[in-house]
Amino acid sequence: MDEIIRDQLNRPLHDLRISVTDRCNFRCSYCMPAEVFGPDYAFLPKDQVLSFEEIERLANIFARLGVKKIRLTGGEPLLRQNLQDLIRKLVNINGITDIGLTTNGVFLSKHAESLYQAGLRRLNISLDALNDEVFQALNGRGVSSKIVLKGIDAALKAGFHIKINMVVQKGVNDQEIIPMARYFREKGVTLRFIEFMDVGNSNGWNFERVIPKKEIYHMLSQEFDLEPVDEAYFGEVAKRYKYKDKQAEIGFITSVSESFCTSCTRARISADGKLYTCLFAGKGFDLKSMLRNKSSNEFIQSQIISIWNHRNDRYSDERMSNGNAKKNKIEMSYIGG
Ligand code: GTP
Ligand code: 5AD
Ligand code: SF4
Ligand code: SF4
Repeated sequence: MDEIIRDQLNRPLHDLRISVTDRCNFRCSYCMPAEVFGPDYAFLPKDQVLSFEEIERLANIFARLGVKKIRLTGGEPLLRQNLQDLIRKLVNINGITDIGLTTNGVFLSKHAESLYQAGLRRLNISLDALNDEVFQALNGRGVSSKIVLKGIDAALKAGFHIKINMVVQKGVNDQEIIPMARYFREKGVTLRFIEFMDVGNSNGWNFERVIPKKEIYHMLSQEFDLEPVDEAYFGEVAKRYKYKDKQAEIGFITSVSESFCTSCTRARISADGKLYTCLFAGKGFDLKSMLRNKSSNEFIQSQIISIWNHRNDRYSDERMSNGNAKKNKIEMSYIGG
């Protein structure tokens, strides 16, 4: 590692989230509503998407600046052909100690084994309901939860550490909180409840639809005995708890009710190679042009240092005071959460 860099709020750079495609086979209402992401939607043309070699080059540069953890996202990252080849490259980078992938799970039955063989060990899998009527409506493509549950089982069998992500919306899937908790508690798999966020401009976010951590915790504590688990590292996103009588955890991602910007150590790269310093940013920094115009690694590194040094994003901390007034935010499917 060359140096530890800090932003305007003294936050180091530890994590890099890399989107490998802006496409998805789902149309989750809170992320890619079908009315907006229809048949005519202009996804990124192939030649604008970073190649695996370009991603590897960037990951090497970021590792020199202190990044230890990489998360691959999408859209749906398993739509990217031969993703195993990218994983094989990333696991060999000096300084990268943790690689994860966030997926909707549909293609795991097919790919879990080869992803594991390539060196991937951690998967975060999105599932918002067990009940098919609820899940099929939410994913916008009528896909049954059974497909995802099969994918989860295939990934467990392959040996993966797994967390399940459930985005909770009042009046939409809150009745699924307890059934989901029971199911994954029995499996010994961590389930995380995510507060519905106002990412992008098209998901019709409304504060009334957010169920804060406190309410979900209250619901769960009627049925289960829970105790807090300490943060595993500085800047961990989820607040964790464990069942007192079982080897299983739950977590809460509380971007709305208890924002965590003061410890945000994450940079994000879109599939077309733009660097974003916040999930709610409006504008990114074009790294792809530098990669493609023969800039040296040293030059690109110096640009990233300067961008990070100037960073002062704290959108979630300010959400309520700016009255959700900010328009022109990047879409979730473009930046991968
Ligand atoms: P690990 O902790 O490495 O397992 O992953 P993660 O929880 O950081 O990543 P994941 O892709 O599973 O994201 C879970 C949820 O947290 C998603 O809804 C993300 O959008 C949200 N999230 C992750 N990082 C941030 C962040 O920096 N800010 C906000 N507001 N939300 C985030
Ligand atoms: N609010 C909260 N979480 C979201 N995700 C996608 N859109 C939203 C939103 N508006 C979640 C997905 C996935 C992760 C990357 O982000 O369900 O688990
Ligand atoms: Fe696809 Fe994930 Fe967005 Fe759903 S949340 S549309 S699975 S990228
Ligand atoms: Fe980080 Fe922006 Fe999320 Fe705050 S809102 S935690 S600064 S990504």
